[in-house]
Amino acid sequence: MKKLGILLSGRGSNFQAIARSVQAGKIPAEIAVVISNKADAQGLETARAMGLEAVCIPSKGLKRKEFDRRVVALLKEKQVDLVCLAGFMRLLSACFVEQFPDRILNIHPALLPSFPGLDGQRQALEHGVKFSGCTVHFVDTGLDSGPIVAQAVVPVNDDDTLAALSARILSEEHRLYTEAINIVLSGKFRIEGRRVMRT
Ligand code: GAR
Repeated sequence: MKKLGILLSGRGSNFQAIARSVQAGKIPAEIAVVISNKADAQGLETARAMGLEAVCIPSKGLKRKEFDRRVVALLKEKQVDLVCLAGFMRLLSACFVEQFPDRILNIHPALLPSFPGLDGQRQALEHGVKFSGCTVHFVDTGLDSGPIVAQAVVPVNDDDTLAALSARILSEEHRLYTEAINIVLSGKFRIEGRRVMRT
């Protein structure tokens, strides 16, 4: 059975959606560990309530490399095959990324390469785009910049509030992450340049 490691910083709804897919047999893997850089992340509570191992590795006061080294050590100890960033609000250093080549995914609440970074939903609304969505991509050392595995599109309505648009995108995020994890776990893809193609 393949092992997933989840990294999160907050609410953890994407993690919860992944965990539900695992429980329902829709992802052929188990969640080996959930790690947060924030002790008060709601996602850690949720993970513990589900009987999963949930660990806080505080990032505050640590140099990036040292924090990353500790996270990598735990992921390796748990023999994680695929790392899923689920609202994990930190960049990864090269020493982290190199340990899991093409084995780290992130979800972002916009159609990359548009609106990377914080508040992707707000950026889209303020820019006035008519469609936005979400993206699951491989992680490199850049900001939301690795090869794209899957995207989903949602309309932006004239009367949208930030909350309404965010909720529409989030429900697609929850569906899309399971789909993308399954593509990667199946191994039935190849990467050419920036293009991830199904095989
Ligand atoms: C999600 O919308 C995710 O796409 C976003 O943070 C939220 C986390 O929610 N991630 C980023 O913006 C990464 N650049 P969650 O904790 O409920 O999954």
